[in-house]
Amino acid sequence: MIKLQNVEKVYRTSSIETLALNNINLDVKKKEFISIMGPSGCGKSTLLNIMGLLDAPSKGQIEIDGSKVENYNDKDLAHLRNQKLGFIFQSFHLINDLSVIDNVEIPLLYRSSTAKQRRDLAQEALEKVGLSNRMKHFPKQLSGGQKQRVAIARAIVGKPEIILADEPTGNLDSVMGNEILGILQKLNEDGATIVMVTHDDAMAKKTHRLVRLFDGTQVM
Ligand SMILES: Nc1ncnc2c1ncn2[C@@H]1O[C@H](COP(=O)(O)OP(=O)(O)O)[C@@H](O)[C@H]1O
Ligand SMILES: [Mg+2]
Repeated sequence: MIKLQNVEKVYRTSSIETLALNNINLDVKKKEFISIMGPSGCGKSTLLNIMGLLDAPSKGQIEIDGSKVENYNDKDLAHLRNQKLGFIFQSFHLINDLSVIDNVEIPLLYRSSTAKQRRDLAQEALEKVGLSNRMKHFPKQLSGGQKQRVAIARAIVGKPEIILADEPTGNLDSVMGNEILGILQKLNEDGATIVMVTHDDAMAKKTHRLVRLFDGTQVM
């Protein structure tokens, strides 16, 4: 579903060069749930952003569900991202001025759909994360766990086949963290391919496979 071949990422500023990823080869199968672990700064977010077509590698190839994206322009990349990928971040990235349901509808604004279709899909996504009773609330009226559930609803509203989660439980206590993991496991059972960055060994153990990074290199 996601294939990386000889992927390298170098960040250059005027004075320093950082090799953030060094020759990564990874093949994530359809319906797999993998976790990525490693110390802070080892390249986990960089790897996830490259898988999610948010950032381009300095070298190497990426294939998403059979599409080689090397020659895609920004518009093609944005389209593929919107159709295939859902993102979840540690700090939720919700828009505070929008209600829960309006936050969840955001990815659908880039597709041709009617207001009614958007509302129906957003309601369906909120039901999946157990938040249909909070649709008119605003983010500041929610707990951290609830905010992350809204963010998951937003990630899945367009029914993406792939979900990329960057430390989705990093800001949550263990009870809320386990709830979030449970939701991701259910989405995986229902067919989603998931890649999750985590600091938590116990969470990683509940996924199918663990990839470890150290200084930009895959060590397992
Ligand atoms: N936009 C950027 N510009 C320069 N260096 C960056 C940038 N993003 C990340 N880095 C560097 O790349 C390395 C990997 O970062 P990152 O992928 O965020 O690590 P992790 O998510 O594992 O903590 C770090 O050394 C970081 O400082
Ligand atoms: Mg990170």
